[in-house]
Amino acid sequence: MCGIVGYNGHRRAAPILIDSLKRLEYRGYDSSGIAVYDGKAIEVWKEKGKISELEKILPDMPGTIGIGHTRWATHGRPNKVNAHPHTSGGIAVVHNGIIENYQELRDKLVGSGFVFISETDTEVLAHLVNHYYKNDLIDAVISALNEIKGSYAIAVLCGSQLVAARKDSPLVIGIGNEENFIASDIPAILKYTRKVIFLDDLELASVSPDVVTFFNMKKEPIDKTINQIDWNLEAAERSGYEHFMLKEIHEQPRSLHETLAGRISELEGTISFENLNITEAQVTDIPRISIIACGTSYNAGLLGKYLFEHLSGIHVDVEIASEFRYAHSAPGSLVIVISQSGETADTLAALREAKTFGCRSIAITNVMGSTITREVDSSIYMRSGPEIGVAATKTFISQLGVLYLLALYFGKSKGKISSDRMKRLLVSIKQIPAQITLILNDKEQIKKHAEKIAASNDIFFIGRTFNYPIALEGALKLKEISYIHAEGYAAGELKHGPLALISKNTPVIAIATKGLTYDKVVNNIKEVKAREAPVIAIADEKDNEIERYVDGLIRVPSTDEILSPMLSIVVLQLISYYAAKVRNCPIDQPRNLAKSVTVE
Ligand code: F6R
Repeated sequence: MCGIVGYNGHRRAAPILIDSLKRLEYRGYDSSGIAVYDGKAIEVWKEKGKISELEKILPDMPGTIGIGHTRWATHGRPNKVNAHPHTSGGIAVVHNGIIENYQELRDKLVGSGFVFISETDTEVLAHLVNHYYKNDLIDAVISALNEIKGSYAIAVLCGSQLVAARKDSPLVIGIGNEENFIASDIPAILKYTRKVIFLDDLELASVSPDVVTFFNMKKEPIDKTINQIDWNLEAAERSGYEHFMLKEIHEQPRSLHETLAGRISELEGTISFENLNITEAQVTDIPRISIIACGTSYNAGLLGKYLFEHLSGIHVDVEIASEFRYAHSAPGSLVIVISQSGETADTLAALREAKTFGCRSIAITNVMGSTITREVDSSIYMRSGPEIGVAATKTFISQLGVLYLLALYFGKSKGKISSDRMKRLLVSIKQIPAQITLILNDKEQIKKHAEKIAASNDIFFIGRTFNYPIALEGALKLKEISYIHAEGYAAGELKHGPLALISKNTPVIAIATKGLTYDKVVNNIKEVKAREAPVIAIADEKDNEIERYVDGLIRVPSTDEILSPMLSIVVLQLISYYAAKVRNCPIDQPRNLAKSVTVE
């Protein structure tokens, strides 16, 4: 997805813009550009491809104010002309989002004599601001934005004036010492400041070196709060790991520990959340829950369904956010949106739809102050720290951690879990971070299994009940980073169609930890073995039976059946990682994918 940076201060802007853009590379992009004002004119440089290509052509630029952008093509091909910034007269603009009425505006502007050189919707914005500009940039930006339908986060440069604005696309202002910053994502500016102000929808900021002034769309000044970001720069760097993904896989014990910290008392068998505005008494009135999410967060939500239904008896529907908009929500339902970034456009749109039915809402997210957190009744933070690799790993574990706690809290409130079982489960959940570390210590043997299957064209992942969402997540991880076609299936479904695809060339990875459906999964393993598929099983360390049915075995530490998905998924993440490595794939930035998907 596109990235925005802006700088106004006492240092040369260009190196800061380039450095900040590089910190957004993980989000995926196809071209980049910067615009810097040198006291006389705005100089614009852009290039197709990596930021290093842009760096090759950059001259020495002395200006101390500028904007920069990494573009992920939506309107128009990924080339130099379509790259941002776009200019009109003395105005330069960078933009994230989509201008829905751009064709109409473009026709109007062409009629007024403006000449378009790109295929982008953003160029419309540059011409519109120019059209309205009469010595006051804020006035011109407000007038231009009033004509726009769609989503935007923008930074506009005009001489020594720098203005930012947003609607439905994230933007933060970084507060420095005699220098201030604009960024679409916090990691871009973490090296320079940890003080940030989140811009809300339909707000603007005028950014000078000494002061940032905030306005609403009527140009009335507004007060904003400064937030202190508690991540450090190291959290957003690779720290000696070859890839962010591998680093983040290794950070999972810490991430889960942070998710649980201060929220559980295993001695008393209680769970508490800082900001959850739902009392135990109110839980008993929840008729049903809708969990809404996309991708990996959806897979976490699907495990959430099994957990809530098993532990609290409350019926749960899990909805893919982009489909939920067109479904009907039951008034009175509790809506739980799961989003690592808190910015996913589909999830946000579904949340807004659910709210029109009067649903109460909870967000499970990793980003404090993100758009979704500002639109829900309460937010539960995952506390994973920044996740840079496009493939979600540590945030998935922490999403699961929150879901376990919430399902247990609901189960206790509804009197469905005995105090003893609650205490036992809380003791077991607290052991999971250490058990994940044991799996990580054994990664060399997982690597060998991954290397054996890395040349396959198709791989199946199977599991039942609590392990079914993990099969889906294992398949998603593998396909997105290794580009191997992978399918996750409820093991019992194979015989209803996909078994036709099973052969000696389709390895099957079976999640076969001990539990209610263990025997059935073993039968499913026999079914695929009968079709000559090589099978790798993930099984409990104490399982003495399964070895005889499979070709490869990866053992995970023993735990309660409902908790074992948090262990099995770590194995599957490592399999994906090592398979992708053998295949020489760009693991942290898979093709066509972006870290936070802010378009619908
Ligand atoms: C896959 C992945 C995506 C995200 C999805 C939702 O590894 O990361 O599938 O899970 O785009 O993103 P969030 O959680 O930010 O809403």
